[in-house]
Amino acid sequence: MLQDYQLLRIPGPTPIPPSVQQAMMKPMTGHREQDTKDLLKRVQPRLKKVFGTDEDVVIIAGSGTSGLEAAVVNTVAAGDEVLVIVTGSFGERFTEICKAYHLHVHTLHYEWGKALIPEEVASVLAANPSIKAVFATYCETSTGVINPIEELAATIKQSSEALVIIDGVSCVGAVETKLDEWGIDICVTGSQKALMLPPGLCFIAASKKAWNIIETNQQPRFYLDLRKYHHTSLEFSTPFTPALSLLYGLEQSLSLLELEGLSQVYRRHQMMKQMTRAAFKSLGIPLLTTDMFASPTVTAIIPDGDEPDALRKVLKQDFGIVLAGGQNKLKGKIFRIGHMGYCTPADILQIISCIEIGLFKIGTIQETGFGVMAAQQAYLQGESI
Ligand SMILES: Cc1ncc(COP(=O)(O)O)c(C=O)c1O
Repeated sequence: MLQDYQLLRIPGPTPIPPSVQQAMMKPMTGHREQDTKDLLKRVQPRLKKVFGTDEDVVIIAGSGTSGLEAAVVNTVAAGDEVLVIVTGSFGERFTEICKAYHLHVHTLHYEWGKALIPEEVASVLAANPSIKAVFATYCETSTGVINPIEELAATIKQSSEALVIIDGVSCVGAVETKLDEWGIDICVTGSQKALMLPPGLCFIAASKKAWNIIETNQQPRFYLDLRKYHHTSLEFSTPFTPALSLLYGLEQSLSLLELEGLSQVYRRHQMMKQMTRAAFKSLGIPLLTTDMFASPTVTAIIPDGDEPDALRKVLKQDFGIVLAGGQNKLKGKIFRIGHMGYCTPADILQIISCIEIGLFKIGTIQETGFGVMAAQQAYLQGESI
């Protein structure tokens, strides 16, 4: 096989556009020099649109989890009551972070593959009026579920003062996010997913209410102290050395999103979801989630027995294609296709075509072509809407 060929179709890290790669090759500048200030001045305000907010968005050099931890340590303190909604592996991560900081953690668990139900969250809040923050995952990457965050935030706001804190790591930038309008208080994302960058940057948007709480929260914190990031960002600076190369790349990836137009970016992701789902339905291979709560960024497929890992092996060996397996309790039971960021309907046709060959080779299907045909039809139908 051609060496050096790899097609990454996992739900992050995602492939990097060549122009972003190129931008990241710029030589270093002094991080306290005017060049870096100018760069931050160009980049920071443009992140607001991605989160649907007029409030400030801060950038941390850290992975997505640093943003989740920052959301916890800046808003609540040991002993405070919080509610974590767990719809999969990343809900569990929020729970672990909250427990690590000795919070009084209530959890609301859903079967993996199902979405949260806002009314049930309201019931937990009604029964536990001291809950100060609710943590939820927008796209649960481990299952391919997109949770109804707009409805969740509206429901929480109706009956409670609790902060609405959202992990948007695997979908912000690929799906509509309206922090201000929906009433989200904190939303976190990472660079290596829909934003088409390597791992290493984390972005945090917060409401006015959240920024006020962050200012006065008693929990000790240092590197993840969002006050430092917020105050320095007002001067177009950072508290610590920024990940400069990633910031150069970010400027270009934001340009790509702006040139395409965010609403078209969201439509493209919807289209890729529909094509992928149509393909597996036509092949008679079950999907983990319902259409209603299927994420536009990642699809989880649940074939029989040992097939997920056997299929992933064939795709890697024959085509250099990397698919994701299942996490934790779904390990070995599903495979996942990431279709976010630098990914188009043309990529979906390619991946489905290769997966069909893989499925044929492991004996799941006896004929190839039906999946691709269904994806083509979904494309044509989607385009005409
Ligand atoms: C929804 C979600 N939250 C959090 C994370 C953690 O991000 P990181 O691995 O960058 O720390 C991920 C990573 O896949 C994710 O998909």
